[in-house]
Parts: sequence; structure tokens; C-alpha cells
Amino acid sequence: MSEISKKRKIAILTSGGDAPGMNNVIHAVYKTVKAMNSEKQTNKNLSPEEKKPWELLLIKGGYQGILKKEIFEIDDYWKQLITNSTKIGGTILGSARFKAFEEEETRKKAKRILDEFGVGVLIAVGGDGTFAGLQKLSELGIQCIGIPGTIDNDVVSTDVTIGFDTALNTVVEAIDRIRDTSNSHSRISIVEVMGRHCGDLAIHAAVNADLVATPGNPKIPEHELINIVKDLHHKQSLSSIVVLVTENLYDVKKLAKNIEQELKVETRATVLGQIQRGGAPSASDRYLATMMGIFAVEQADKKGDSSVIIALQGNKLTVLPIHVALSMQRSDRSAAVSKILRLSGIFYKK
Ligand code: F6P
Repeated sequence: MSEISKKRKIAILTSGGDAPGMNNVIHAVYKTVKAMNSEKQTNKNLSPEEKKPWELLLIKGGYQGILKKEIFEIDDYWKQLITNSTKIGGTILGSARFKAFEEEETRKKAKRILDEFGVGVLIAVGGDGTFAGLQKLSELGIQCIGIPGTIDNDVVSTDVTIGFDTALNTVVEAIDRIRDTSNSHSRISIVEVMGRHCGDLAIHAAVNADLVATPGNPKIPEHELINIVKDLHHKQSLSSIVVLVTENLYDVKKLAKNIEQELKVETRATVLGQIQRGGAPSASDRYLATMMGIFAVEQADKKGDSSVIIALQGNKLTVLPIHVALSMQRSDRSAAVSKILRLSGIFYKK
């Protein structure tokens, strides 16, 4: 089989925690494949082989969907779903965290199934966990293209991930609501934000809060955090104090109790949880997702079969070999955190 025939089927899946904008990627990939196919038909410079249309297959339920052979051609049902999905959150393909994909045997089986369906290129939307799976799959001889989609913004190779902007807006709206009720009752509120081990959601939302604590840069020990809240309360006579913390740092219910005991001020803790993952994608996420989807198909259509991750770097879309993207180090956020804390008159350095 020639290189072109081999590459004629692209499959797409979404994996890991869902993120608003994933549907926009699927939509952009679908539309780009369609447009490319009709352009090729009218291009007189292409050989019959090169004119062969691309075919897009959909995989449901992430990597697990490959093993379950949940691989579909696009019929009228899917066409309608894809077309109507651009303004809705979640992912129409479904997603999963599939531990078994870390095992070589599972990946080999997945490769055999992809071969059976004639898939030459696999596009996966997700985070670093998804990309680690892609890297291993590409080593088995399938061209893989990763698109960063996660609300956490923890994919180091890209300036921003699909879903981050929407989640950030959800967090800010939640903080504003919590602020209203905290003001009315002169309370202290602790708000736990997602991010896994990345503080970006909390840091970006923190300009609307009084204090922020993130996993690194620096991580504030609990007793010091309580002292800072105490200081804020005594020195600044604020009608309320809103403290944002990234998940996995403190037991926020306990933290609220300890603050209440120490300061004798009513304190409540709110864990925003999965509410941050849902909702219609923001305009910004729709745009980013669409551009990345288009770019992914353009990469697939290029000669060669390099496996890459798509990234936005300094406002420009680019590609990086998967292993390079995965080995990049997170940049230090401490300067931003210090500046935000300084707005509240807190000078915290560790
Ligand atoms: O990666 C996205 C994310 O929402 C993280 O912020 C969070 O730690 C995790 O997923 C929660 O996953 P689940 O919904 O499976 O509990």
C-alpha cells in the first residue's frame, strides 16, 4: 500500500477529564476533512492516488473505545450531532481515564484494532496523560496527533489549553456569587478550585479574591495561611475575605473550621468541583479549539508521518514531537502569585 492510501483514515477521540471546546475540535476536524476532500477533487495537479478522499472515523469513550471497537463512520446521526455540538460543553464522543492503556499488551491490541479499521492517523484531545498514551501508540507505528484539551492548563508545551478559559470564567462567576453572600454575612470564604497539581485556574481567578494558595510558587503551609487571613482580617477591616485554594492542598472543611476557631469569624468552605468542567465553551475556547482542529488535519495531510502535539506558543500554532512536549518543565508562577498577593497587602515569599 502506498503512503497516501495508508494514511487515508483519520480517527478522533477525546480522553481524560472532559473540557469545554472538545466538541469544537471534533467539528473543525470534520469540516476540514470535508473541505479538503472537495478541494482535492478540483485540483488538477494531484494524481488519482493523491485525490483519494480522507475519511474520518469517530471513537467513543477515549482509548477504551478502541478496545471496545466503538469506532464509527459518520452517518446522518453523527453529522447532525457534530453540527449542533459547537455551543455545548462536554464531549459528544464521551471520555474516560483508562488505566489499562499504560500496559503494552493493551496498546498492542489497540494498534491491531486500529489497523483492522484502516486507521492511519489518530487525533486525541486531552492532557499529558492522554499524550503519554499517544507517544507509546506512535511507537507501534501509527501517526498520532495530540491536541491539548483540559481545564487545568497543565500541559506545559502550550501557553493555553482548550477549556481553560471557560472554566476560568465559571470560577470567577462562582467567586462573585460567594463574595455577595460573604459580604452580607461578613464571613470568610474558602473556595477550592480544580487544577489537579497546577495552580493556573486559582492564580488567574485570584484577582477577584483576597488571597490565593497554589501547589507551588510558593505553597503556603496551613498555619501560615491562617496567620495571613488573621492579618487581613485585623488590618484591613474587609467586610468579607475570599480565599482561593487549588485542590489537593488542604482539607478545606477543616481549614475553615480552624480559621473560625482562631479568628472567631464565621467561615465557610466551598468546593467548586465538577461544575468547573461543564458549560458552553467560551468564544475564546471555541476559536482556539477550531484552529487547533484545522491545524491537526493539515498536519495529517502533510507528507511524512511524524507524531506531534499541537501547541499555542506566543499566539502562534506550532507542533512539537510528543516526547519533547512531555519532557518540558512548567514555568515558575511565583512572580504572578506574589504580585496578586501584594494587591491585598500581603508580602509572602518563601
Ligand atoms: O483534569 C481535569 C480535572 O477536572 C482536574 O482538575 C481534577 O483533579 C480531575 O479532573 C477530577 O477528575 P474526576 O472528575 O474524574 O474526579
